[in-house]
Formats: sequence, structure tokens, C-alpha cells
Amino acid sequence: MTKIKDTIVLVTGGASGIGRLMGDMCLQNGAAKLIIWDVNKEKLDSTTRELRAFHFIVHPYLVDVGNTQLVIEMAAKVKQEVGMVDILINNAGIITGNKMFSEISHHDVDKIMDINTNALMHVTLEFLPEMIKKGFGHIVNISSAAGMLANPQMSVYCASKWAVAGWSESMRIELENGKTGVHVTTVNPSYIDTGMFTGVSTNWLIPLLKPEALAAKVVRAVKYNRLFVRAPFMVQLIPFTRGIIPVRLFDLIVGKWFGVYRSMHGFKGR
Ligand SMILES: NC(=O)c1ccc[n+]([C@@H]2O[C@H](COP(=O)([O-])OP(=O)(O)OC[C@H]3O[C@@H](n4cnc5c(N)ncnc54)[C@H](O)[C@@H]3O)[C@@H](O)[C@H]2O)c1
Repeated sequence: MTKIKDTIVLVTGGASGIGRLMGDMCLQNGAAKLIIWDVNKEKLDSTTRELRAFHFIVHPYLVDVGNTQLVIEMAAKVKQEVGMVDILINNAGIITGNKMFSEISHHDVDKIMDINTNALMHVTLEFLPEMIKKGFGHIVNISSAAGMLANPQMSVYCASKWAVAGWSESMRIELENGKTGVHVTTVNPSYIDTGMFTGVSTNWLIPLLKPEALAAKVVRAVKYNRLFVRAPFMVQLIPFTRGIIPVRLFDLIVGKWFGVYRSMHGFKGR
């Protein structure tokens, strides 16, 4: 078990969406302090105000996690001003549209990979050594169902989330082998009703997840040191079905019949 009570929690992208909810739920579970890193000043201010109204201790920082130099500087600031981070939730992520790969710009490739993938590793590098020294900590990495399943019109997003899943699991094994006391949870949700993926088509196989329910699952996973949060249930079957069904048949059943490969057609985003 990872106790949340009296811990210092840092959530990247914690000013809105599931990041905000996970931060709020950690505070409700007794976390001593919540540090929010976000790039949206307005949301950062309103979330901080709203949480402080409940007498929670909240430390907001305007940080673009895609800027490694800034991440290093802000991590030092956090350690000096707030203290050592016990629970790190690497949540900030973006999608830039629903273009085919051939139409995507170099700028978008770099931006998505920097924020959705590289940032998680750079932020973790700033806080993990102290967790190991203390023999206590938990790192949550928000990947996606798109980190387990290829999907058209989001190829770079998929790449960024597959990379997170591979890195997160590798680090988890290292930390377990080293008996460090630091735990890792990798999160692979399908579409969530936060507005990030407005316009996508969903159905009974890929329903639109309720942000509150997903956030609660993640916080529970931290408490009980679960390795994965994969939601909805069908996401848990992806590795097995991909392993046993020939690729073309998988494309036909999951992609065409169940419409997963068409899900990004109507994407509008924010
Ligand atoms: N919404 C979905 O359908 C869905 C599905 C699977 C996985 N995810 C992943 O869950 C995470 C949260 O998604 P959400 O739906 O809550 O998104 P959201 O857009 O509602 O919230 C994301 C937050 O991250 C912040 N952010 C964006 N870029 C940042 C940066 N460079 N530095 C710091 N903060 C930044 C935003 O300002 C925002 O507050 C993301 O990593 C996303 O990829 C989302």
C-alpha cells in the first residue's frame, strides 16, 4: 500500500481534466500538500482558488513541461519552497488534431513527443532519486489505450503514448528489482469526457469514460500499488486479442466492425 495521508503530491496538467480531479482526490485522501504544474494560467488560478476554499494546501506553478530547462529549474524551486515530492502524477498531455501522418508538421511531431513522452521522463528524473533515497514514493504515468492499440489519425499521439507505456513498465521493473520502495502505475484509458477528444465517436466497446470514475480508479491504484489502470474493461483484453488474432482479422473486427479506426473522423478537440 502507498499511504496518501500526509504526502506531498505533484500533478502535471493538474489545473483541469482528470489531472485536477486526481489532485483533488489525493487531498481528500489526506495528502498534506498538492503541487500543480500547468501551462494554463487562468485554469491554474481558478483551480487553486477553488481547492483553497476547502482549506487545502495548494502550490500552483506555471510550467510548460515540454521545456526541460524550465522543468529542472521548477523542480529545484519546488524542493526549496514546498519539500520532497512523494507522489508524482505525470498527467499533462496534448493532441494537436486528427491529421493523417503525411500531413503532420515537424513542429507538431516534436511538440507532441516533448510534452506527452519526454516530459514524463525529465520530470521523473528530477524527483525519483529522492524517492529512492527515502525508500518511499509512487509515480503515475498517464498513457492511453492509444498506447496499446494503433489508431489512424492520431499516429504521433499513439507513438507518444506507446513510448510512455514501454518506459513506465521498464522503470517499474527496475524499481521493483532494486527493492526501492518506489511504485509505478501505468494508466491506459480509452476516451474520457474531459473535452480533450470532443467529437470522437464512441460506442459500447469504447464508451466515453466519466472523468471522476477514472480519476478515482487511479487514486485507488496508487493506494493499492496497482501496476495498471486499463479502462474500460475491453482495454485489458487488447494485448491478448492482438496476440492471438491475425492482424488483418483484428483490423476487420476491431477497426471496421466495431468502428475503432473511424473514431477520430469527427474529432474537434478543444
Ligand atoms: N481525454 C481523453 O479522452 C484521454 C484518453 C486517454 C488518455 N488521456 C490522457 O490523459 C491526460 C489528461 O487528459 P485530459 O483529458 O484530462 O486533458 P485536459 O486537456 O482536460 O487537461 C490537460 C491539462 O494539461 C495541461 N497541459 C497541457 N500541456 C501542458 C504542458 N506543456 N505543460 C503543463 N501542462 C500542460 C493543460 O493546460 C490541462 O490543464 C493526458 O495525458 C491525455 O493524453 C486522455
